[in-house]
Amino acid sequence: MTFLVCSTIFWSLLASLLMLDFCASMDSLNQSQSMSEDETLISPGGKFQLGFFSTDNSSKRYLGIWFYDIRIRTIIWVANRNKPLESSPGLLKIEHGNLVIQNHSGQAIWASNTQNLSSSSTTAKLLDSGNLVLKYGNSESYLWQSFDHPTDTMLTGMKVGWDFKAGMEKQLMSWKSALDPSLGQFSFKLDPSGFPQGKMFEGNITRYRSFPHFGSVHAAFSSAYIPKLVNGSEGAYFSYDLRDKNTLQRYLLNYTGKLQHYIWMIQTLDWMLLYELPNDSCDEYAKCGPNAVCVEAKSLRTCKCLPGYVSKSAEGSDTLNPWYSGGCTWKSSFNCSGPEGFKGVKGVKLPDLLLFEMNTTMTLKECENFCSRNCTCTAYASTSESTDKDKTGCGFWFGDLLDIREANDNYRTNEIFIRVIASELEGDSKRTKWVVAVAVVLSVSSAMFCLWASWTRRKGQGANVDVHAEEEENFELPVFNAVMISQATNNFSCSNQIGKGGFGHVYKGELPNGQEIAVKRLSETSKQGLNEFKNEVMLIAKLQHRNLVKLLGCCIEGRERMLVYEYMPNGSLDSFIFSTMEGSCLAWRRRFNIIVGVARGLLYLHRDSRLTIIHRDLKGGNVLLDNKMNPKISDFGMARTFREDQLLEKTKRIVGTFGYISPEYAADGIFSIKSDVFSFGVLVLEIVCGKRNREFHHPDHHFNLIGHICRRGNYGSRGKHMS
Ligand SMILES: *[C@@H]1O[C@H](CO)[C@@H](O)[C@H](O)[C@H]1NC(C)=O
Ligand SMILES: *[C@@H]1O[C@H](CO)[C@@H](O)[C@H](O)[C@H]1NC(C)=O
Ligand SMILES: *[C@@H]1O[C@H](CO)[C@@H](O)[C@H](O)[C@H]1NC(C)=O
Ligand SMILES: *[C@@H]1O[C@H](CO)[C@@H](O)[C@H](O)[C@H]1NC(C)=O
Ligand SMILES: *[C@@H]1O[C@H](CO)[C@@H](O)[C@H](O)[C@H]1NC(C)=O
Ligand SMILES: *[C@@H]1O[C@H](CO)[C@@H](O)[C@H](O)[C@H]1NC(C)=O
Ligand SMILES: *[C@@H]1O[C@H](CO)[C@@H](O)[C@H](O)[C@H]1NC(C)=O
Ligand SMILES: *[C@@H]1O[C@H](CO)[C@@H](O)[C@H](O)[C@H]1NC(C)=O
Ligand SMILES: *[C@@H]1O[C@H](CO)[C@@H](O)[C@H](O)[C@H]1NC(C)=O
Ligand SMILES: *[C@@H]1O[C@H](CO)[C@@H](O)[C@H](O)[C@H]1NC(C)=O
Ligand SMILES: *[C@@H]1O[C@H](CO)[C@@H](O)[C@H](O)[C@H]1NC(C)=O
Ligand SMILES: *[C@@H]1O[C@H](CO)[C@@H](O)[C@H](O)[C@H]1NC(C)=O
Repeated sequence: MTFLVCSTIFWSLLASLLMLDFCASMDSLNQSQSMSEDETLISPGGKFQLGFFSTDNSSKRYLGIWFYDIRIRTIIWVANRNKPLESSPGLLKIEHGNLVIQNHSGQAIWASNTQNLSSSSTTAKLLDSGNLVLKYGNSESYLWQSFDHPTDTMLTGMKVGWDFKAGMEKQLMSWKSALDPSLGQFSFKLDPSGFPQGKMFEGNITRYRSFPHFGSVHAAFSSAYIPKLVNGSEGAYFSYDLRDKNTLQRYLLNYTGKLQHYIWMIQTLDWMLLYELPNDSCDEYAKCGPNAVCVEAKSLRTCKCLPGYVSKSAEGSDTLNPWYSGGCTWKSSFNCSGPEGFKGVKGVKLPDLLLFEMNTTMTLKECENFCSRNCTCTAYASTSESTDKDKTGCGFWFGDLLDIREANDNYRTNEIFIRVIASELEGDSKRTKWVVAVAVVLSVSSAMFCLWASWTRRKGQGANVDVHAEEEENFELPVFNAVMISQATNNFSCSNQIGKGGFGHVYKGELPNGQEIAVKRLSETSKQGLNEFKNEVMLIAKLQHRNLVKLLGCCIEGRERMLVYEYMPNGSLDSFIFSTMEGSCLAWRRRFNIIVGVARGLLYLHRDSRLTIIHRDLKGGNVLLDNKMNPKISDFGMARTFREDQLLEKTKRIVGTFGYISPEYAADGIFSIKSDVFSFGVLVLEIVCGKRNREFHHPDHHFNLIGHICRRGNYGSRGKHMS
C-alpha cells in the first residue's frame, strides 16, 4: 500500500519534472523533432504559445499562435486557415528544411514553402514577439517568418504593406466568422499609389481609408502606442511601436469589418478596445460621393458640397437615388480662362490620394501658384506635419475629390484649399455657405434624399407647398436610413406603435445612441399623403421653437416615407384632458402652462417665424407633451404658408377636424390665422372643461360645448363641468 502511494508520488513528481524540463526547452523545433497535437512551443519569455487548436467542438483543427499567459485565448496567427486538419491528428515537423503540417497519412496539408534552402538543417523558433521564424542554426537572418504572412492580427514589429526588395505584399485578412479562421471578406492593405495610405476592403470594394499622413510618424493620438507609416527604398509599410514595452497589444482586422486596437488590462484581466474604425458613418469610404464633405452629428450623416460645387442630381432626372452615385459637381461650368481662386475648408480628413502629387520643398504660396496654373488641379493642401508658419511641402489633387469628412477629435485636422471661380470668393462674409446635400447611410442600392426644397421648386406647383423664403436659403435635414429606423422600432412592431393618423402609423423607437424617437410612417398608398409629407418636412425643418415638436430627420427610401421626431413621453394632450382615468387629472397650474405654451407656439407660427404659417389642424391630439408636460404643437401636414402681406386664402378642399374648424372656413373655405385662433379657442375651452367640443351633452339643449358656453354667457359655472 505504502509502496503504491510512494510510487504514484514518485511518478507524478517525475512527470511534472519532465514536463517542466520539456516546457522550458520547447521553444524551437529542429530536423529531428516533431510536434504532435498535444504538444506546444512556448516562447522563451513565456509570452506566446504555438500549438494546435480548434475553435469549437468541431473536428477541425488548426496550427496557430496565441498569447500564452492570459486567461482569454486570443489567436494572433493561423497557419492552415483554409485547410484544417479533420478527424485524425496532425503533426508539425521540419521536412527538407521547411515547416510542414502533416496529417495522419503523412501528407502535407500546409508548408512554409521557402525555396532555395542551401541545407535542410533549419530550426523553427517561436520568439517572444509572437513571430515564428525559420533559420539556419543560430543565424540571425530568417528564411521564413510568420510575420511575413499575417492572418488578421498585427503585433508590434509586424509590417503591413509592401516589401519592394522581396516583391512581397503583406496584408491583414479577416476571419470568416468568430469561429471560422478561413479567409474572410475583409482585408487591410497599403495602397502604394500616390502616397501610401491604409485601406480596408470588403472583397474588392473600399470600405475605409485611414487618415493620410505625410511624415514618417503619425500624429500621436494614442497614449498606448505610436503608429508608423514608412515609405522607403526597401518598402512602404504601416506598423506601430509600444510606448510601454510591457503591455500586450494587438491590432485586429475583425471579421465584423472593423479595424480594432486592443490593449490587455491587468486590472480587469480582459482586452480593452482602444479604438475601432470605421467608427461612424462618415468613416465609411466616400459615402457622400465626389466633392462632398461628410458631417456626422448625433450618429446621423449629412453631406455637404464643397464650396463652388452643387449636387449633381438636382439637375439629374433620377430623383430616387441621386446622392450615392451623384455627389457634387461644379456650380458653374469651369473653364480655365475665367478668374479663379482658392477657398479653404478647415478641419477635414484630406481627400483620397488618387490623382495626387507632392512637392516637399514648395511653400504654401508657391503651391497655390502651381495649382492655379494647372487647370486640372482641383485642390492643394499643406503636407507638413509641423505647425511652423513657414511650413513647406504640399500636395495637389487632380480631378474629383473623394472621401472627405469633417475630422473628429481623434485626428489632427488639415485645411484644404479648393479651386473656385472668382465669384465664389466674393461677398462671403458669413463663413462658407455650403450648399446642402444629403446623406446616404448604408446600402449602396438604397436611395435616400431629402432635398425637398430644390426638388419641389423645380417641380413647380404640383405640391401643396409654397415657400416664400429667400431662394438662397439652404435646407438641411439629416436623413435616416430605413434599415436603421426599422431596427430602432423593432421592425415597426405593433408593440412600438403609439399612434395612428390619416397618413399612417406612428411608432416609438430608440436610436443606437439611446435617443428616443417617434417615427411617423406614411402608408404606401396615400398619394395625398405624399404631398402633405413633403409639406411637413419643408415646414418643420425651418421651424425652431420650444413649443413646436422637433423634427430630427426624414427618410425616403423606395416607397418608404418617414418622419423622425423627438419622442414625447407624455403623449398627446387629448389623453390627459379627456381621460376619465384616476390620477390623469391635470392641475390648474399645468393646464394654464399648457394653454400658454400652445399660444406661444401659435404666435410663433403666425407672427414670429420668418414665414406666416397657418396650422389648420390645431386640436388636442396634435399637441404633444414632453416629460415636463410642456406642450409642443405637432402635425404640420395640413399647414399652409402665407406671404407677409397675405391675409386670407380660399380653398375648395376643407381640411381639419370637425369641432375645431371655424365657421367661415367650414362654410366658404376661407382661412387665415384667425382659423387657427378659433381652433385654439376651442382647445382652451376643452382644456378648461375637460370635455370634447363635439361630444358635449347637456340635458337642457343639443348644442356642443361652444354653443353651451355661448348660451351660458358666463364662465362662473365652469367648475360644474370639470372632469
Ligand atoms: C535538435 O534538438 C535537440 C534537442 O534540442 C538536440 O539535441 C539536437 O542536437 C538538435 N539536432 C540538430 C540537428 O540540431
Ligand atoms: C461544446 O462542448 C461543451 C462541453 O463539452 C458544450 O457545453 C457545448 O455546448 C458544446 N458547444 C457546441 C457548439 O457544440
Ligand atoms: C491527408 O490529406 C490528404 C490530402 O489532403 C487526404 O487525401 C487524406 O485523406 C488525408 N488523410 C487523413 C487521414 O486525413
Ligand atoms: C531559387 O533559385 C533559382 C535558381 O538558382 C532562381 O531562379 C530562383 O529565383 C530562386 N528562387 C528564390 C525564391 O530565390
Ligand atoms: C469586384 O468583384 C466582383 C465580383 O467578384 C467583380 O464582378 C468585379 O468586376 C470586381 N470589380 C473590380 C473593380 O475588380
Ligand atoms: C516612396 O518611396 C519610394 C522609394 O523611395 C519613392 O520612389 C516614392 O516617390 C516615395 N513616394 C512618395 C509619395 O514619397
Ligand atoms: C470582434 O469584434 C467583436 C465586436 O466588437 C468583439 O466582440 C470580438 O471580440 C472581436 N473579435 C476578436 C477576435 O477580438
Ligand atoms: C468613436 O467615436 C466617438 C466620437 O468621436 C468616440 O467618442 C469613441 O471613443 C470612438 N469609439 C471608438 C471605439 O473608437
Ligand atoms: C469661362 O467662364 C467664365 C465665367 O465662369 C466666363 O466669363 C468665360 O466667358 C468663360 N470662357 C470661356 C472660354 O468659355
Ligand atoms: C518642387 O518645387 C520646387 C520649387 O518650385 C522645384 O524646384 C522642384 O523641382 C519641385 N520638385 C518636384 C519633385 O517637383
Ligand atoms: C496638370 O497636371 C497634370 C497631372 O500632373 C498633368 O498631367 C498635366 O500635364 C498638367 N497640365 C499642365 C497644363 O501643366
Ligand atoms: C426584423 O426583421 C429582420 C429581417 O426581416 C429580422 O432578421 C430581424 O430578426 C427582425 N427583428 C426583430 C426585432 O423582429
